[in-house]
Amino acid sequence: MIDQSNLPKHIAIIMDGNGRWAQSQGKNRLFGHRNGTEAVHKVVEAAAKMQIEHLTLYAFSTENWNRPKLEVSTLMDLLIKALRRELNKMIKNNIQLRSIGDISKLPAEVEKELQETIHKTSHNTGMILTLALNYGARQELTQAVQQIAAKVKNNIISLENVDETIINEHLYTQNLPAVDLLIRTSGEQRISNFLLWQIAYAELYFSEVFWPDFNERHFEDAIISYQKRERRFGKTSEQLTHS
Ligand code: FPP
Repeated sequence: MIDQSNLPKHIAIIMDGNGRWAQSQGKNRLFGHRNGTEAVHKVVEAAAKMQIEHLTLYAFSTENWNRPKLEVSTLMDLLIKALRRELNKMIKNNIQLRSIGDISKLPAEVEKELQETIHKTSHNTGMILTLALNYGARQELTQAVQQIAAKVKNNIISLENVDETIINEHLYTQNLPAVDLLIRTSGEQRISNFLLWQIAYAELYFSEVFWPDFNERHFEDAIISYQKRERRFGKTSEQLTHS
């Protein structure tokens, strides 16, 4: 069913619906996050097996700090445990872990575990798995503008040379290609401050399924939907077939 010659190079996922999944079964939100971690495991493995080059997951946004303290600390705890538990599998599956977002503001233990896992998987040559942690696209763009402005002020780059390439180079995603397919689960149809610059030409796929129930089959459905679409990048259909 999946055309291996037309895979999206970069898939990004907004993993939504953990809380509602748990509440729909009379459980608390934390139960939803724990089960959400299982879905992360399944989808990462499926993506690596399918030879997707880049998978980027929205794990914790700059806005998520506003959640109840216990929920924030549970998410941090789940992250540490998942990193420890998954390290060997990431090495076995040749996955390279990276992060985007201001990770210096994460609890010290989380930052340390993350840096260690990034380091230990840095020689892997397969799929690049990027976790967005304390990530917000407006924050990312703001810090990029600040860095570029400082370089212009100090004559490191000239104003005329500020172009899309320079902007790309100052984003957290500097080494990642643009997003081809953005998936959001749980029926919500919003971007929620995720990769605003990088999704300029992404295909959007919204699934009704709550994240803890999202599995390999749903992931494949999203890719099949992507493969049925015609990406025109501003051109006409005729121009695409004749080029
Ligand atoms: C959204 O559900 C999910 C999150 C805010 C966090 C995603 C985190 C995980 C899946 C677990 C740990 C992550 C990794 C990478 C191991 P929600 O709480 O917003 O759901 P709701 O909209 O139903 O309330």
